[in-house]
Amino acid sequence: MTTEQDPVKLMKQQVGFAAADRVKSGMIVGLGTGSTTAYTIQALGDRIKSGQLKDIKGVPTSFQSEVLAKQYGVPLTTLDEIDRIDIAIDGADEVDTHLNLIKGGGAAHTREKVVDCLAAQFIVVVDSSKMVDKLGSTFRVPIEVIPMAIAPVTRAIEKLGGKPELRMGIRKAGPVITDQGNMVIDVQFDNLDNPVELEKTLNNIPGVLENGLFVNCTDLVLVGEIKDGKPVVREIFKQS
Ligand code: A5P
Repeated sequence: MTTEQDPVKLMKQQVGFAAADRVKSGMIVGLGTGSTTAYTIQALGDRIKSGQLKDIKGVPTSFQSEVLAKQYGVPLTTLDEIDRIDIAIDGADEVDTHLNLIKGGGAAHTREKVVDCLAAQFIVVVDSSKMVDKLGSTFRVPIEVIPMAIAPVTRAIEKLGGKPELRMGIRKAGPVITDQGNMVIDVQFDNLDNPVELEKTLNNIPGVLENGLFVNCTDLVLVGEIKDGKPVVREIFKQS
């Protein structure tokens, strides 16, 4: 099957490109992580090369997005050098009806939360399979933990009723190591009724750096869907 025929890839491509169209010259742009925002970074590079987009700077949320930005010619900056982010574009693993998210499938949620929630406008780009009624339905909550605290954090999560599992590498022996040199515990919560409270509770456990619950941060979700055999983009704005 080619990329063009795979419906999920088509949906990701469609929303990734649609989000890049919202970036204007002069903007500072948070560059998300994952397979969907890879299309956004590619499209930003194309718009810069064609002269359509001028004087933009990207703030990467991971090593991956930094590499892609360099590959596609998107100039980069850091949070030390700027005092605002105009727009951030990032993927998600789940989006609920309040536009709260689970992120961290790529273990990048710590930097993503810093950049995405700092942006004046945070746009989430997902294919339709990521939309859920309730967070935790299809995806576990990733938690970045400093390595020496893995055992006590695991016990604390179990006390909260979660089922933790240390994330292991694929084609790499041992656990996944984040861009910050930490580890990730994926936690299943059978009743994730209050993501607002759970986000705070998890981050209060000593040794936890950040968890993948993003609450009250999203401004707009672009959902890729297939209608009549063609990929289309649905917009869901935050209710004010
Ligand atoms: C990275 O840690 C994640 O938060 C990603 O943004 C998320 O997993 C979405 O990835 P895809 O765009 O590859 O589905």
